[in-house]
Amino acid sequence: MATLGGGDLGFVPTMGAFHEGHLSLMREARKGHEKVVVSLFVNPLQFGQGEDYERYPRDEERDFALAEAEGVDYLFAPAREEIYRRKTTTICVPEVSEPWEGKARPGHFVGVATVVAKLFNIVRPEVAYFGWKDLQQCLVLRRMVEDLNMSVALRFMETLREPDGLALSSRNAYLSPGERELAPELHRTLVRIAAELDKNSDKAQELTAKGREELFLKGFQVEYLELVSLVDLQPTTGVGDAALIVASKIGTTRLIDNLRFGALTG
Ligand code: PAJ
Repeated sequence: MATLGGGDLGFVPTMGAFHEGHLSLMREARKGHEKVVVSLFVNPLQFGQGEDYERYPRDEERDFALAEAEGVDYLFAPAREEIYRRKTTTICVPEVSEPWEGKARPGHFVGVATVVAKLFNIVRPEVAYFGWKDLQQCLVLRRMVEDLNMSVALRFMETLREPDGLALSSRNAYLSPGERELAPELHRTLVRIAAELDKNSDKAQELTAKGREELFLKGFQVEYLELVSLVDLQPTTGVGDAALIVASKIGTTRLIDNLRFGALTG
């Protein structure tokens, strides 16, 4: 496979089913680079048994049109066999990939790190763009790039939301109308906790426990809601360089969201 290297190249890796969040990353890349490459690959390696690989929303024709409208120069949409010809060498990022999503989705971050490393090698970008929506993914990829001395810069962009606060996600399409109405409560809960933390910065444990309880009573199956350090993702009590992170199921749909404090950016 030929590489696309050469010139000043901005890269946005995606799994398609584009929404404004994806498009905002493309726009940011468009602003900063001569050429913009977007990849569209629903990566089987990052989905666990019983997860939604098969039913993950796919609409390549629509995605091609949207990428073109954003001025993307090249949309790389490889077939599964192009990326994985045989059992692959993998990348396992220690520590930051272990808690939270790592626990809930064993093997997920090995899949993410491996495919992103492969895509970096194929595309050879100067800068790659990711969304803070997937906060742990950002920290895992930053650690991979640092540990493996990869010559790519990472930029992390703010989460785009619906007017009611729900973070844009391809998986929102799975929500029933009733679940969709409930879903913004995730973000609202984080905002409420953040406001309280501003006043009582030593009450993190109490406030997150209360948030979990409130969400549970509203019908969420909360997996975690914690204040964590943005350095190592371990639970913390202070809000400096910290984030509230949440994962919850509503019905059968699993959603994640977060709210960052402090100034740690990409
Ligand atoms: P995907 O879920 O398609 O997301 C592609 C990029 O869009 C990621 O960097 C993600 O964080 C970002 N994104 C998702 N929702 C967003 C929102 N509401 N606002 C801003 N950015 C948002 O993340 C993946 O794909 C995959 O794991 C991938 C990195 C492509 C590896 O397969």
